[in-house]
Amino acid sequence: MSLNARIEAAISQAIRAGQGGAAPPRLAQALDYAVTPGGARIRPTICMSVALACGDDRPALTDAAATALELIHCASLVHDDLPCFDDADMRRGKPAVHRAFSQPLAVLTGDSLIVMAFEVLARAAGRDAGKDAGRAVELIRILGARTGMPGGICAGQGWESEPQIDLSAYHRAKTGALFIAATQMGAAAAGQDPEPWEELGARIGEAFQVADDLRDALYDAETLGKPVGQDGLHGRPNAVAELGVQGAIRRLKDILGGAIASIPSCAGEAMLAAMVRKYAERLTPVAPVRAGE
Ligand code: IPE
Ligand code: IPE
Ligand code: MG
Ligand code: MG
Repeated sequence: MSLNARIEAAISQAIRAGQGGAAPPRLAQALDYAVTPGGARIRPTICMSVALACGDDRPALTDAAATALELIHCASLVHDDLPCFDDADMRRGKPAVHRAFSQPLAVLTGDSLIVMAFEVLARAAGRDAGKDAGRAVELIRILGARTGMPGGICAGQGWESEPQIDLSAYHRAKTGALFIAATQMGAAAAGQDPEPWEELGARIGEAFQVADDLRDALYDAETLGKPVGQDGLHGRPNAVAELGVQGAIRRLKDILGGAIASIPSCAGEAMLAAMVRKYAERLTPVAPVRAGE
């Protein structure tokens, strides 16, 4: 099975479990709407790639880790698009959840996906007569730290309510946190110490946010499937405002160069270096699409 097929199968199994029984039909439908079809699935792909590079000796735990990460990511997007955050009408080329359903259902969809992520990991702990419990608890710990306060996604979104924002602390928490979770959870699912994997995740995450800022400034909504010009509109600090377009592109390349050097030694080191090189190519913007830039 390809990596993509493995990720999609694990995610849809989790969503189906959340839709069962006497679930309220519209919320059940909104869960699926928020998660499929997905975007790039970059976080679960990184997580699985690291687990494979470390031997992937407990594939069910790897599947649970990758799924939990993507559920948290999707939840963060549903909440991020709400009128009280970015007030964005489109996500992944279709109406945002609060536009397609309602604001109450969007809040509940995000909440349900967050809870479901931890449930998926807890269920994985019970497999094989509890043999995987220790690793699963470690996965829950990492995901919790990178989702909540003081340094997870909640903290990242929280910076937007402060009078002064430090760009790199903001990016590290808002975006970097889940990339760190991706590399660390991949390692932990395969029974490795997650600590040496932090830098790789942090670097890919930082590069990813710089690339997102470049796309927000340079591309059009049709190309991205979500509104553009949002950082300027909401007065958010961003890499393009701080460094200019060329400066931001230089920064992106520097960060990813260091990412390759930071890969901990493991059986799949060369495969991971190739993955980072592929992302470096993908993340560097081609000619600006938006007129006048
Ligand atoms: C968008 O993330 C939100 C950011 C953190 C910049 P992605 O670009 O990974 O979104 P999808 O999952 O591919 O739609
Ligand atoms: C979203 O950041 C990060 C989250 C934690 C959801 P942005 O607001 O910059 O991402 P987009 O542009 O809406 O995808
Ligand atoms: Mg936002
Ligand atoms: Mg947004």
